[in-house]
Amino acid sequence: MTSLMKTQGTTEDDITAEVLRRFDATNDPRLRRIMQSLVRHVHAFVKDVELTEAEWMAAIKFLSETGHMCDDKRQEFILLSDTLGVSMVVDLINHRAPEGATESTVFGPFHRDGAPEMPAGGNIAPRDAKGIPTIVSGHVLTLDGKPIAGARLDVWQADSSGLYDSQYAHTDELHLRGQFRTDKDGAFLVRTIRPVYYAIPTDGPVGRMLTATNRHPWRPAHIHFVISAPGYQPVTTHIFDDADPYLGSDAVFAVKDSLMCTFVRHESRDDEAGRFGLEPPFCTARFDFVLRPSAR
Ligand SMILES: [Fe+2]
Repeated sequence: MTSLMKTQGTTEDDITAEVLRRFDATNDPRLRRIMQSLVRHVHAFVKDVELTEAEWMAAIKFLSETGHMCDDKRQEFILLSDTLGVSMVVDLINHRAPEGATESTVFGPFHRDGAPEMPAGGNIAPRDAKGIPTIVSGHVLTLDGKPIAGARLDVWQADSSGLYDSQYAHTDELHLRGQFRTDKDGAFLVRTIRPVYYAIPTDGPVGRMLTATNRHPWRPAHIHFVISAPGYQPVTTHIFDDADPYLGSDAVFAVKDSLMCTFVRHESRDDEAGRFGLEPPFCTARFDFVLRPSAR
């Protein structure tokens, strides 16, 4: 019997099978699984839509431009992941919080390291004259309701124009960012401004994708938090203004019912105005965060 050299694949499916085979020898089983699944899904996608060469080149250009938009202040790939819902699917797979623990949501592209440490009641928005002064207070608690003293809260949000500090080209200064600690009762107090709904950046490839697909860029008003404490699993989350018109159509799919927070507007010099030294109008918002213990 004549033995023949194995012929090279000539159909689409032959190519897929051969590419998968090339990854068979990957030593790390997790990497092998990821690469082979990626190849299977990308090939299936290309075959499904019968991608043209022009579309393939447009995709290469799109991803190249996405990379070129990224620097230490702008993360277009996170924005792409967020607007495709990938970030939230990853979040949901990785953070199946037990009943009662604060749910996580997207990290987003706007976190910056180096936010200043602030005392309780410290104002993260001292240069925002237009925003409504707002006090956000609450506790960091265990699953059974006990206070966690010394928990760290890393807080950041957009200003009253809907922009993060990193979106201002003329300055590198940090603004609307701070790090707070809970006191012995697990309590925290942050002074800021009422968050507003804002558009994600639309001046790059992600913005063009949204426009081309008739999607809006709006995110409902929120404040970002990362809460951490020794012995507990940190949580990356937001609190959302429960009166926001975009809660049902967040451009990055990050809204969860458990993260709703009521921002109460005060129009008179009431007790809270006296307590916080604020002139009306101002807002107060209360939210308790619940951490689960670290995995042992
Ligand atoms: Fe945000």
